Amino acid sequence: MIKEQRRNWWKEGIVYQIYPRSFQDTTGNGIGDLRGILQRLDYIKSLGVDIIWLNPVYASPNDDNGYDIADYRSIMPEFGTMADFDALLEGIKLSGLKLVMDLVVNHSSDAHNWFEESRKSRDNPYRDYYHWWPAENGTPPKRWSYFDVEGNAWNYDPPTDAYYLHYFSVKQPDLKWENPKVRNEVYDIMKFWFDKGVDGFRMDVISFISKDTAYPELPERFKGDFVPYYSDGPKLHEYLHEMHTEVLSKYDVMTVGEAPGIGLDKALDFVAADRQELNMFFHFDLMALDREQNEVFTMRKENWKLTEFKKIHSQWDVAFAKKGWGSMYLNNHDFPRSVSRWGRDSRTHWFKSATMLQTFLLTMRGTPYFYYGEEIGMTNIKFDKISDYKDINTLNRHESIARQGGDTEAFLRNEQDASRDNARTPMQWNTTANAGFSTEKPWLKVNSNYKEGVNVATQEEDAYSVLNYFKRMVQVRKEHLTLVYGEYHLLQEENEEIYAYTRTMTTERYLILLSFSTQRALIDLNELAFDKAKLLISNDDVRSTNGKRFELYSYQACVYKLE
Ligand code: GLC
Repeated sequence: MIKEQRRNWWKEGIVYQIYPRSFQDTTGNGIGDLRGILQRLDYIKSLGVDIIWLNPVYASPNDDNGYDIADYRSIMPEFGTMADFDALLEGIKLSGLKLVMDLVVNHSSDAHNWFEESRKSRDNPYRDYYHWWPAENGTPPKRWSYFDVEGNAWNYDPPTDAYYLHYFSVKQPDLKWENPKVRNEVYDIMKFWFDKGVDGFRMDVISFISKDTAYPELPERFKGDFVPYYSDGPKLHEYLHEMHTEVLSKYDVMTVGEAPGIGLDKALDFVAADRQELNMFFHFDLMALDREQNEVFTMRKENWKLTEFKKIHSQWDVAFAKKGWGSMYLNNHDFPRSVSRWGRDSRTHWFKSATMLQTFLLTMRGTPYFYYGEEIGMTNIKFDKISDYKDINTLNRHESIARQGGDTEAFLRNEQDASRDNARTPMQWNTTANAGFSTEKPWLKVNSNYKEGVNVATQEEDAYSVLNYFKRMVQVRKEHLTLVYGEYHLLQEENEEIYAYTRTMTTERYLILLSFSTQRALIDLNELAFDKAKLLISNDDVRSTNGKRFELYSYQACVYKLE
């Protein structure tokens, strides 16, 4: 039935991403934990999703909320114990769900035993686990760091009179994949979790792992454009293929790489099945649409156009039409809430735009990824003072601007829309104190709109809630395999108000209409050779149609079966 794409559970599955720190606290320390997730499994199951992706839960000093790992085989005490993890994994399996973990191996924490050893002496057996530049060779060639206050990825370390490399914070030294011992350590860690029964990994900044260890000056074509350089390491594919041979090929697991810097031209090198590397990756083209160059986590540009949004998705769909497979996401723990960014979180448009965006993810080819709270339309919190923030990216950037005498007020205004903490506020379960997330003061403020309907309990009771729409839309995807595998065809690409496309497989065809407009909008689809359009779902009243001319209300989404 499916000609070009082989069927797979990770193609048909819907992913639900959980930021454990913010999901459910059961111990009263204001921090979410593994028992909390276990307690909420019935809820997750009720959504109709299939795969849970957990952000890092490993032992970590939390310089970057768990993306700085001190021990890859133990659980962060704030989140629980290994026994709690095992209980959670068992619960997940019993519910018929799958679990994907975060693999963060471009860098470790500086508190990892490997690094503590590495920095002791130049002849330490772990020296070559990290990237070092001896100070007698002068200042190392410039490398840019995401979270460093000075933007410098080389940090001078006095004990051995040398600099170490850190693309992220000074407490996240980059691991040296060029050393085969490091690679074997990583493979052993992966096997450890797979042998427990974990179903896959999301691989943190996996495109950055290979480096030119001569550390030359940035080649001219990358000047001012470090991300493509970081993701263009000479042995990247050699390592991914080796990882596949050594580990992945031995298990039925799913892999999704986080791949900043990887464009359409290189997409299939990672995910074409015959390459034997990864199953999927997250590209950054959409996330960069309203950002300044190289500022994907931070600086916001005004306005983006629907035609550009469509172009990005249409091009990526083509890239994976015959080989490889895409991953569809509109937000995650690194980006603001999707309804606030791609829709509108005002009272008038919140419900419609949140559900329209869900419809989009669930009617595109590629595996859809939802981020906890997206199913109830959680919105940006928009902090107004720096003391509310916890994220190293915001805090260090603020300090850096302050040190340079820059405009910190303008930066704070920017962060109201752009900050990562917008997406990390506690899950809104009900209308009790702290939205039912914790009995104590949460680690990050709760968005007060939990009292105004943005919470699970209220929405479960309301047939017309964002949550109940989500559940219905999930079922629509599940019942129509064409929405997973069918060919995608964009209609009227120039239209700045409506995103319209068809999905076709054999004789079945579906029409998806998504309004991104705050006004009524009309679309004439005379090119469609179908007389009847049978409505499967919509988030608003549907105006009658002759199957060709459609009128949509603001942010309306409609899925039709064409006959
Ligand atoms: C990835 C993670 C992000 C983290 C960074 C460094 O981009 O998603 O949260 O800060 O890598 O590990």
